[in-house]
Amino acid sequence: MITALVSKKGGVGKTTTCVNLAAALAGIGKKVLVVDLDSQASASLSLGVPRERLAPSIADVLLHDMPVGEAIRPTRTGGLDILPASSDLTSFDVVMASRSGKELLLGSRLRPAASFYDFILVDCPSSLSLLPINALVAADNFVLPVVPQYLALEGVRNLLPTTQRLYERFGKRTDLLGIVLTIVDYRTRTNRHNIDLIREQFGNAVYAIEIRTNIRLAEAPAEGMTIFEYDSHCAGAKAYRLLAAETLIRASQLRRNSAARAEAV
Ligand SMILES: Nc1ncnc2c1ncn2[C@@H]1O[C@H](COP(=O)(O)OP(=O)(O)O)[C@@H](O)[C@H]1O
Ligand SMILES: [Mg+2]
Repeated sequence: MITALVSKKGGVGKTTTCVNLAAALAGIGKKVLVVDLDSQASASLSLGVPRERLAPSIADVLLHDMPVGEAIRPTRTGGLDILPASSDLTSFDVVMASRSGKELLLGSRLRPAASFYDFILVDCPSSLSLLPINALVAADNFVLPVVPQYLALEGVRNLLPTTQRLYERFGKRTDLLGIVLTIVDYRTRTNRHNIDLIREQFGNAVYAIEIRTNIRLAEAPAEGMTIFEYDSHCAGAKAYRLLAAETLIRASQLRRNSAARAEAV
């Protein structure tokens, strides 16, 4: 199953959620691959890849036809592999501008790896440019992290029409696995108010578990560690373990729904 972590807005916890959800899933015995699509390589660095060893990266796979297996490597976490990003990705939009099928490239390049993993999580840059579009087309579903602040709902409203358009164009559904409320601070009244609004409007599409503000989650990436390596007993680690458990349930619900749809056709 391929899951894209997307949002047009930056700083909403996409990378933090990608890395720590991946590590939590690996911790319960799943085979997991993180694909880093952000030229800043935050997910790669957070998973302990040294900056000078980012190559070979997803840029080589997408731009220079390198077989995907040659760029994937293990992390310190058992069962968790990384396909790193590098700054070369910044040229992707320009190089691909006039190519036909440019939205389908990631999906076709990942295909040989897909059967080795239970979960492939794709960390996207904060935009809806060609790389996140590739991720959405390649993915079975997507996770949308939202910080319950002012204008939080705008991010959700942007994305849902985009996935609908992609469905109309490429004929492949990308389901919403769930909206994850992140960097939640219950002490502020706006946070609480916005959480109520988001839950009211999106109902079951919103994960039950909320990821609260936790300083350990902000500290771990600088050490190149997942939250479980950095402080496996902190509140952030517990939250991401619960998020992984809920992800398993939500993923099997989506699989049941799509099997039912296929039967109905
Ligand atoms: N639950 C959290 N508590 C505290 N800080 C967080 C939390 N989640 C993310 N952060 C911090 O917020 C910033 C943005 O998170 P990040 O995952 O990089 O977002 P994005 O990938 O969407 O841009 C980072 O500095 C990260 O360490
Ligand atoms: Mg990020």
